[in-house]
Amino acid sequence: MHDQPLTGLTLGQLAAEALADLGAAADSQALESWYATYLGRKGRITQAVRRVGELPREERPTFGQRANEVKRELEAAYEQRAQALKAAEMQKALAISAIDVTLPGRPVARGRLHPSTQVLRRIYQIWADMGFQIYLSRDVETDEYNFQLLNFPPGHPARDMQDSFYTTTEGILLRTHTSPGQIRAMRQFCPEPIRVILPGMCYRYEQVTARHEMQFYQVEGLVVGYKIRFTDLKGTLNDFAQRMFGAGRKTRFRASYFPFTEPSAELDVDCILCGGRGCRVCKYSGWLEILGCGMVNPVVLQNGGYDPTVFSGYAFGMGPERIAMLSNGIEDIRYFWADDLRFLEQF
Ligand code: PHE
Repeated sequence: MHDQPLTGLTLGQLAAEALADLGAAADSQALESWYATYLGRKGRITQAVRRVGELPREERPTFGQRANEVKRELEAAYEQRAQALKAAEMQKALAISAIDVTLPGRPVARGRLHPSTQVLRRIYQIWADMGFQIYLSRDVETDEYNFQLLNFPPGHPARDMQDSFYTTTEGILLRTHTSPGQIRAMRQFCPEPIRVILPGMCYRYEQVTARHEMQFYQVEGLVVGYKIRFTDLKGTLNDFAQRMFGAGRKTRFRASYFPFTEPSAELDVDCILCGGRGCRVCKYSGWLEILGCGMVNPVVLQNGGYDPTVFSGYAFGMGPERIAMLSNGIEDIRYFWADDLRFLEQF
């Protein structure tokens, strides 16, 4: 035959053996060593082709042609095999690194409500259950609404209890309490009866300490109607205390003074932490002061547009931060606006 090599194998046999080996090469490493064995510089095919010189002259062209054919055939087979292996390896890699959709996801960091907001919402809920609507009044007030219409004329000593942030515009300040909203609500609803709460931020020019902040929330309450009496105030606020701090809570009303209520009182509940036995939070008195309240002063009713001989009412004001501090034993009011997550995450 024309493709007689000198090794005892014909080119055809060598090619058949090479193809069989190629089929057995299972990965790219085996494939590379197959290439070196057959088609590399010292490969069996390469060497067989080189031996063309040892053949009789007339057989050389045919052998050469045949050898090139075999070589091209094997190169092509090699390429095909290489591609098939590469595809298989990719499939394998994909299978290994496939996304496991059953894996639990990474936890999403969830925010929460600020402790003041939580207390505010609890307060809204309780008063809403008792038929009070929320009335939002402004943070920037006039001296007239913040003080004068509430019966603090200029120079009144009670103004000293509420040092103010004044704007550069004469007579305009940040409200020091939510009470000016009483006048705004009355002037809006007069002559209808009123049952509202007025929540919002208040501002005072204070030395900031563990007990004083220069901004804090208040929730004001206002009831105006016919034959509203001090017993209505007592009964309703006592009920509020039970709903807010737990049934069976003891309460007491202490006489107090506000220019815009007459008579005025402060409401205490028995200490939430020690149950009245006496502790640091209640300063060993057994009582916690929760809010200020009183019957709306006739002058204030009149300033709101109501005839004090026909209408009467009561009002109260509480501080949600103070309530949160008392019920959680928080000792420093500055935590509320310090944005420290170690504090905020506890609520
Ligand atoms: N406005 C008063 C304060 O800030 C609280 C209060 C409100 C008292 C309504 C009586 C009635 O201290």
